[in-house]
Order: sequence, then C-alpha cells, then structure tokens
Amino acid sequence: MSKSNPISLKSQTIEALKAQQIELQNQTMRDLFAQNPLRFSHFSCFYDDIFFDFSRNRVTLQTISLLIKLAHSHQLKDKIEALFSGKLVNTTEKRPALHTALRDITHSPIWVRGENIAPLISSNLEKMRTFTQQIHEHHLKGEYNKPIKHIVNIGIGGSYLGPKMSIYALKEFAITDLEFHFITGIDNTHLNQVLQAIDIDASLFIISSKSFMTLETMLNAKVIKDFVQAKLGKQALKHFIAITSKEEKAIEFGILKENIFPIWDWVGGRFSIWSAIGLPLMLLIGYQQFDEFLAGAYQIDQHFRYSEFEKNIPVLMALISIWYTHFFDVRAEAIVPYGHSLTHFTAYLQQAIMESNGKSVNLNGNRIHTTSPVIFGGEGCHGQHAYHQLLHQGPHIIPVDFILPALAHPLDNTHHDVLIASGLSQAQALMRGKKVEEAYQELIKASYDEKTAKELAPHLAVPGNRPSNILLLKSINPKNLGALIALYEHKIFTQSSIWDINPFDQWGVELGKQLLPEILTQLQDVNYHNPETDGIIRQINVFKNSKGEHS
Ligand code: F6P
Repeated sequence: MSKSNPISLKSQTIEALKAQQIELQNQTMRDLFAQNPLRFSHFSCFYDDIFFDFSRNRVTLQTISLLIKLAHSHQLKDKIEALFSGKLVNTTEKRPALHTALRDITHSPIWVRGENIAPLISSNLEKMRTFTQQIHEHHLKGEYNKPIKHIVNIGIGGSYLGPKMSIYALKEFAITDLEFHFITGIDNTHLNQVLQAIDIDASLFIISSKSFMTLETMLNAKVIKDFVQAKLGKQALKHFIAITSKEEKAIEFGILKENIFPIWDWVGGRFSIWSAIGLPLMLLIGYQQFDEFLAGAYQIDQHFRYSEFEKNIPVLMALISIWYTHFFDVRAEAIVPYGHSLTHFTAYLQQAIMESNGKSVNLNGNRIHTTSPVIFGGEGCHGQHAYHQLLHQGPHIIPVDFILPALAHPLDNTHHDVLIASGLSQAQALMRGKKVEEAYQELIKASYDEKTAKELAPHLAVPGNRPSNILLLKSINPKNLGALIALYEHKIFTQSSIWDINPFDQWGVELGKQLLPEILTQLQDVNYHNPETDGIIRQINVFKNSKGEHS
C-alpha cells in the first residue's frame, strides 16, 4: 500500500467518520447488541487488574478502526515516544513533561538538558523513604518529646488535590495512625479550626508548592509559621518541610535546607502525585505500598507506550471521547466512581483534564474549536439521587465513565453487590432507556386508566441510547489506584495529541492571578476606582459597614 499523505488521510478519515455518525443516528445500542452477540468481546479489553468495557457506546468496529486511523494520522505513536523520551512536549515553556520518569521502576537513564535525571529521582525517593521511616519510628519528635501525630499539608491545585484524593482512596491501607489535614484556599475559618484541633508540638507542616509563590499557599504558610513560632519559639522551624522546585525561596522563608524535598520544572503540578508531592500518601501507606502505587502507574505506562491502539485502554478512552465531542457535539462528560474511597477522584481529574486540555489554540497558534468537555460527577450512589436525572432525561448527551471496583476492601459482599448493581443498572438504564409505548404498557399494567397512562407515558419515557464506559478494577489498592490515575493521564495526552494542543501549560489561570492585586487594592483603598468593579465593591463595603446588624 502506498504511504498516504497524512493531511489528506486526516480529512478522508474525518469524512468517513461523519458518514458513520449519520449512519449510526438511526441505530440504537439495543439494536447493535441484538445484531452482534459478540459485541461485548469486540468492545472490551483488559490490562492486568483493569477491565475496560466500552460496548455501551454508539460505535461499530468500523468506527473504532476509523478513530484509530485518525490517531495514526496525527502521529500519536511518535508523540507518545516524544513524551516518554523527554522531548520538549511542553512547547510554550520549552520543557519535557516527565511524570512517567518518576514512576519508572527500572530507573532507566533519561536526559533533561544534558543531565541524567534518573539518579535525582532515586535519591529523592530515598530521602522520602528515610523521612517516612523517621516519622513512623518516632525519631522525629517535637519540643516536648511527642511523636508526630498530625500531618498538615498546605497547598493548592496539584499540590493539594492529589495528596487529598489518594489519602482518602487508600485509607484502608494505612500503616500508621497519623492524622492528615489539608489547608487550601484562603479560608481563615478552616485554617483556625485546624490549628485549634491539632497539638502543634506533635504536628508536621508540609508546604507543598512547586513555585513557592502561589498566593493562597504562601499566605497560609506565613500565618501558620507565625502561629507555630509564637507557640514553640526557636523550635518551630523543625516542624516545617517544603516540597518545591524553588529551594532558595524555601530557605528564604526559613525552611531548614535538609527539610526541603525537590521537585523539578519538568513535573507538571497536576501530574505531580508521583513526586515528593505524594509524601503525605507515603506517610500514610509506607514506602513499600507507595512503590506499588508507582508500579501500577508504570505498568500502564508500558501498556500505553507499547500496546496496539486496538487494545490500548487510554487510547480507546480518548478516541471514544473525541468521537462524541467532534461528531455528536458533546460538551460534558461525567466521571462517576462507585465506592466512597474514590470520593475525591472526580475533583482530582477535573484539574488534570480541564487544566490540561481546556485550550482553544493549537501548537501553531491557530484557533481550535473543540477540545476538553466539562468534567463533572462524583461518588456513584450519591449522583443517582441528584444529577443523574439530567443524564437520563436531559436534552443533551453526556457520556459517563463508571468506575467500579469488583472487590470490596475489606471484603464486604452484601453492601458491595448492591454498589456494583447500582453502577451497572445506571449504565444499563442510560443505554436501554424506556420507550413511550413501554412506559404506557407499564402504567396500564399498574391499573392506570388509558387516558392517564397516555398523559403520563411521555414523562416516564427515557430516551436511552446514551453512552457510557465501565472501568472495572479488580479492587482499589495502591497499585490499581496508580494504574487508574495513569490511564486518565494518558487519555489526556492522547486527546491533546489529536487536537494538537499543549496539555502541559495553563496560561489561562495566570490572568486571574494577575488581576488579583489590583482588585485587592481597590477593596482596601476607597480612592482607587475601576468602572467594572466599582459597583460590586461599593456593595461589599455596604455589607462590611453594616457588620453586626445581622444575626
Ligand atoms: O494556578 C494553577 C496552578 O499553577 C496549578 O497548575 C498548580 O497545581 C497550582 O497552581 C499550585 O501551584 P504550586 O504548586 O506552584 O503552588
């Protein structure tokens, strides 16, 4: 076969996909299942402890093969290699994005600006391990000889969401009775509640900030440092560690040099849970289980890098998502993990996905109109009694990822079976729907008269034919959590590769940061005016001046 010109192949593929979409408009997934008894095996694959069922999608084998062609026409294989081998994939900041190197359990050499970073990663992991052991074995003690009991993480965005999500997800795997607290955002009330609730002398404060400049984090860190110094005097700084790429700034703040854990500019904040930012998790589960967490992600890295696209879970997840955003005008996706331990997982992915792929300019600086859908969702059963109504009967198609752990930890079959059945029945309901005629017959059976049944039936009918994926994990454990996060990271990368955007920068969030000082001045200085915010600030001052008038 002659080598096709990638551009024309791209457009031919797009045309063929458009034709597919038109063809599929009149077919339901119910029909597709009825026509093909092998549908489940054609549209599912697994890797280690993760099984991916994508049979409840509006796709045929031809759709998938066209989508894979699309991926090839965007040189996805080469782009994956560029990511893993440390090319400057973060083009606007001229850096590699090497979160995969952080979990490379083979410690293979990898070069950044002429330096092999593998030894840096290993020595940092070693430092984290030693520190964890010291805390666990009570070698680090406070002024009054108390062992550390409270770990307070001060950070935001990627320096908060990953530690919080993973601590919650893996609580059952704790090997210590350390208590974890998270100070994030500017909220004095919460900060004070935490400071009042903990024994300062038995506390370790982790200032987690890659830039050591983030306003919220640095303000909180300063307030906490003053508070601790007032209590413990000179000994206070022993209670602080910093995780940062800006060692000099941490030293200037007063952190002892030996208490600084490095991260590097080639680790994106939202991909940093594998670095020292993951220290709270290591403190919870110990370094051996933290190694399993890294190993789970490493396995998915291997799968992503070397598996054929036909069986490559993150690539398929990405392509299916692209199928809907581009050809069905889908603008939102729901991520719904079943199991309380994953309660913070969707929030974690909101940053990972939307801060990465919420872009509208491609690598050449040209406008691109379709990129990341809005990500929302949350813990399974709760959603069923809240926003799932919109998934079932709202006017828009919102594809759903159901994340189901097959086994409970600790094993509890009664509850767990109901949990799994809940997730599966939601996927089934989205797909099957209920025709008006079916609703009518149900009402007649339930002894409604014909007139009422006719009136009610359209309200009870559910359109169905709504897509979902099931990501079935054998169970939630450190290895599988690592794998699950890595799957989504690579889904993000695959989509960005096809959209030809840079998923590793976040210039949009900078604008709000730039504007903040001016607004702050305006709030504090009555002589400072800005026509766009004068009105609201006047009203804020009215409320401020009437303080105490309300109960
Ligand atoms: O403002 C967004 C952001 O830059 C995220 O990308 C990052 O995770 C977060 O802020 C925190 O940044 P830092 O770790 O530098 O405090």
